[in-house]
Amino acid sequence: YRRLRVALLGAGAVGSQVADLLLRHGDELADRAGASLELAGIAVRDVDAPRDVDLPRELFTTDAESLILGSDIVIELMGGIEPARTSILQAIGSGADVVTANKALLATHGPELFEAADRVGASVHYEAAAAGAIPIIRPLRDSLAGDRIVRIMGIVNGTTNYILDRMDTEGADFADVLADAQRLGYAEADPTADVEGYDAAQKAAILASLAFHTAVPLDAVYREGITTVTASMIEEARAAGFVIKLLAVCERLDVDGTESISVRVYPALVPHSHPLASVHGANNAVFVEAEAAGSLMFYGAGAGGVQTASAVLGDVVSAARRHIAGGVGVGESTRANLPVVPIGHVTTRY
Ligand code: NDP
Ligand code: HSE
Repeated sequence: YRRLRVALLGAGAVGSQVADLLLRHGDELADRAGASLELAGIAVRDVDAPRDVDLPRELFTTDAESLILGSDIVIELMGGIEPARTSILQAIGSGADVVTANKALLATHGPELFEAADRVGASVHYEAAAAGAIPIIRPLRDSLAGDRIVRIMGIVNGTTNYILDRMDTEGADFADVLADAQRLGYAEADPTADVEGYDAAQKAAILASLAFHTAVPLDAVYREGITTVTASMIEEARAAGFVIKLLAVCERLDVDGTESISVRVYPALVPHSHPLASVHGANNAVFVEAEAAGSLMFYGAGAGGVQTASAVLGDVVSAARRHIAGGVGVGESTRANLPVVPIGHVTTRY
């Protein structure tokens, strides 16, 4: 097989699992990719920091820039805006294909990165950036490209679902469960992103952009988190036959005869009979309603290091196949350019 050099930036909850799987399953992945995937190095802040899995010490470096140069595929799993943005632009500039799980970056700088990649015929893959292990980016971008999506409704943040679920089923304390979510690798480096709904809003912007072929800016997404949800609200909701879930809703609307879209994230009352009420722990679920296909449901692990590593490695295989084939665009379009209308916490029943 042709040998491809893979650079990994970040070895935290997700990155350490990606490195481990890449090293352990290299032969199988090579057969699937049609190229051998050589882990050239792992860039981190502190080479001596403890890791979730044992990884060869000699792979670690703090010099991300040198690692990126000469790599064929760069996997960005540092999170945050900088230096992730600069590293990805460097990777694209040096002819590499990029894999990232960084929804914060994609929701704010996605168009800049995609345009930079288009200019040089590189690709940016990001299946892990929404709903963890669940395949949802490719289905929206590819499988449903022939249909018209009407609405997406889902639970897209694992940490908040884990917190709300344990508060509901065990009467657990918010702060205790958040600490557990951090320990289990579900939460963002700054968990405010989870509990205040920023992470879900970033994912909603990414999903809506793909579903409606429109660049949805993050500031057009209405957002409420779960920090105002109290134990007594959860109890009252239960007594009335509901469970409180942080929902992301992305939908087409007719506003005075103009086709528009609305994207919003807020804690909602979900009836116990609704399938979303049975999404427990750090799982996610995404319902997609399309004109021809009807209703589709995607369900699975929404957070967690090894689960997310599955989606990242799927992208690595795609990037490798594309790299050795000489590369064609991954087929994204935002040409529909629909207006995004500001709608807040609405009481529509689904
Ligand atoms: P962590 O915070 O656990 O790990 C971040 C890693 O990046 C660490 O290894 C850290 O190095 C390294 N890093 C951070 N800043 C720098 C820098 N300036 N230079 C070099 N290395 C740096 O993050 P996660 O693994 O949880 O998340 C990674 C990405 O995946 C994020 O974008 C996140 O949103 C996304 N994601 C996470 C999921 C999850 O369940 N955790 C699920 C889906 C997506 P060091 O170890 O030395 O500090
Ligand atoms: N912090 C995120 C969550 C990780 O809890 O859903 C997965 O994107």
